[in-house]
Amino acid sequence: MQEPLPVALTHEPVLLEECLVALAPQDGGLYLDATVGFGGHSRAILEAAQTQIVALDQDPVALAASAQNLAEFAGRVKFVPVNFADFNPEEVLAADFGGFQGVLADLGVSSLQIDSPERGFSWRFEGPLDMRMGRGETTAADLVNTAPEAELARIFHEYGEERYSRRIARALVEQRRKAPFTTTTQLAEAVAQLIGHRQAIHPATRVFQALRIAVNDELGALTRFLERAPDWLATGGVLAVISFHSLEDRLVKWALRRNPELEILTRKPLLPTEAEQRRNPRSRSAKLRYARKPLRNDHDHAS
Ligand SMILES: C[S@@+](CC[C@H](N)C(=O)[O-])C[C@H]1O[C@@H](n2cnc3c(N)ncnc32)[C@H](O)[C@@H]1O
Repeated sequence: MQEPLPVALTHEPVLLEECLVALAPQDGGLYLDATVGFGGHSRAILEAAQTQIVALDQDPVALAASAQNLAEFAGRVKFVPVNFADFNPEEVLAADFGGFQGVLADLGVSSLQIDSPERGFSWRFEGPLDMRMGRGETTAADLVNTAPEAELARIFHEYGEERYSRRIARALVEQRRKAPFTTTTQLAEAVAQLIGHRQAIHPATRVFQALRIAVNDELGALTRFLERAPDWLATGGVLAVISFHSLEDRLVKWALRRNPELEILTRKPLLPTEAEQRRNPRSRSAKLRYARKPLRNDHDHAS
């Protein structure tokens, strides 16, 4: 018998109903879950119809967890350990596979990652200052201990929208000369001491978010994914993306708008209902946008 899954892993997939409306899973359809995580969205797509899924995650731990979670659908899911920016459908499917009926990306980190102290994503737990989701070489400790002060300030400002970015960067550079940072709590305490508890969120929240985005080149990966994913769609196929902060949402919005192959189906992004936000605080900043590669006939009608 399999071990029961830890409670923290059984989290609720964000904007699930809205994703199902967007993707409208059909019997015989082939779907790409570009960020399978714990497999919550994939499970719903597998339950909604007799679908097949290609499930990607750059985190081998997440892939193992979703493989366990989706074990009952064996034969209908192909798990691929890859960064979605580097995915190549022809490597796992026949070259003439005809495209996906739906592609979903639910961006960012999962609670599985955040709640694992040894991954170093959270200021809440003592752990190594790591924050790598995949197989990248640079850790958060590498950045904090070696990046030039101006680069750290840019990261905190751009990716964390941190007001005190320069002041924090200067203080960290001063402190690392005495002793390099190795743990999450050292960094969290250094930031807290410097700027104090002025807001509702922990003072290190923005710095941690910014480092995570930089360590994983999240915006670079998303940009490449958004350039390539429309080519993986079958005609009539839908590309749906859930983002969690304004930098991501802006990239998604413009990539969908700029692509002449896509018809946008969400003029404004869909947000979680109040009930979902109450049930699942992680959903609070989520935004879903989706677009369709029109059927030939739709094009003909339009022209
Ligand atoms: C928010 S979680 C997905 C949760 C999932 N939808 C569910 O219902 O369980 C995001 C997942 O995407 C993965 N991920 C983030 N960026 C990625 C990328 N560039 N390529 C592949 N996987 C990525 C993370 O490792 C994480 O497991």
